[in-house]
Amino acid sequence: MTKTSTRQYQSGFGNEFSSEALPGVLPVGQNSPQKVAYGLYAEQLSGTAFTAPRAENKRSWLYRIRPGAMHQPFVEVASGLLQSGPFDAIAANPNQLRWNPFPIPAAPTDFIQGLITIGGNGSPDSQSGMAIHVYAANCAMTDRFFYNADGEMLFVPQQGALTLRTECGVVDVAPGEIAVVPRGVRFTVDLPDGTARGYVCENYGALFRLPDLGPIGANGLANARDFLAPVAAFEDKEGAFQLLAKFGGKLWAAEIAHSPLDVVAWHGNYTPYKYDLAHFNAMNSVSFDHADPSIFTVLTAPSDTAGTANVDFVIFPPRWMVAEHTFRPPWFHRNVMSEYMGLVHGAYDAKAEGFLPGGGSLHNCMTGHGPDAATFETASNATLAPHKLDKTLAFMFETRFLIRPTSAALAAPQLQTDYVQCWHGLKKNFTGGM
Ligand SMILES: [Fe+2]
Repeated sequence: MTKTSTRQYQSGFGNEFSSEALPGVLPVGQNSPQKVAYGLYAEQLSGTAFTAPRAENKRSWLYRIRPGAMHQPFVEVASGLLQSGPFDAIAANPNQLRWNPFPIPAAPTDFIQGLITIGGNGSPDSQSGMAIHVYAANCAMTDRFFYNADGEMLFVPQQGALTLRTECGVVDVAPGEIAVVPRGVRFTVDLPDGTARGYVCENYGALFRLPDLGPIGANGLANARDFLAPVAAFEDKEGAFQLLAKFGGKLWAAEIAHSPLDVVAWHGNYTPYKYDLAHFNAMNSVSFDHADPSIFTVLTAPSDTAGTANVDFVIFPPRWMVAEHTFRPPWFHRNVMSEYMGLVHGAYDAKAEGFLPGGGSLHNCMTGHGPDAATFETASNATLAPHKLDKTLAFMFETRFLIRPTSAALAAPQLQTDYVQCWHGLKKNFTGGM
């Protein structure tokens, strides 16, 4: 067991965890005894098909005060700026796009109300693709709980911590950390700092996992032991509550007369988790050339084509830059994969200005991008001593499918209308002309 601040966690990625908030709840040698201790109900939560291969199979057994089926009927409710695949309302857009940070709202806004969908691909129906959301909120979810049947949610806080109270226990996640809540797990979001802003990758496809390391060997990048799962913590609360579900791309609400966070003990490998990005062991060139950013993959959600992710989560952490006779920032490139980038803090080494913490940029399939004119000029003439790129944390959601922006994202005043101009100052340096 590991402690960060005052919260207890269990260490490991996808382990067979077990935890009980009262002694003697977990059955010994079986999952569903005729009677569970303390009069609890046994319920299995399956995140993969029953018949998924053993290495892929994810499920947890929950021992709870009331089963998950106990609530009033769901009715569809307005989902605000939270949207879902298929993202076919408007044409996909090949332009380089960049947004300033969305402001913390003035009116009371909880995490769910504060979600704004930037774009995405695929659909929950097909269990393929992903959505990119930003959030900006200023109050806790009060007397309401949420689960997402459409996908798992990867949280990247940018400003203000989140306290995720989930069926499996409590997960604190602050800027510089990430958390994942699996498909179907019920939770609510508190804001310990009063306000919060950040990013969410909603993954409709196969579950996030650690990438294979290949020739890197057995260690490096994100190490499994640095991932933290919660310990059991339950609420025995009755009252007038709301259970919200994201199901089939829409929001649904049901009355529920008790807190659904009533799991007294659980065991299994399907659980929320968190990870401190400062633990990422970055690998990079120690000779020459700028390596592909895949070297910074924290988590990957594969598709049915090997090496071609439904979505990768990639970070650009503090690191030493030592490559000799090399243009060190990201090069100019065009990519079959589509890239959404965000910035938690600091500056990103391919942009001199305009890419702000809390903002985002989108470079779609085969859309040209790379260093802006100022960065190209500086990096082409820099003295190549070892240099620590410090106090920075950018990240990327990279997906094999086109990222289709929402009409709300394209209409937002945060969209920069002059982004493409950052490359227009690149000079013609060609010396071989007639
Ligand atoms: Fe790129």
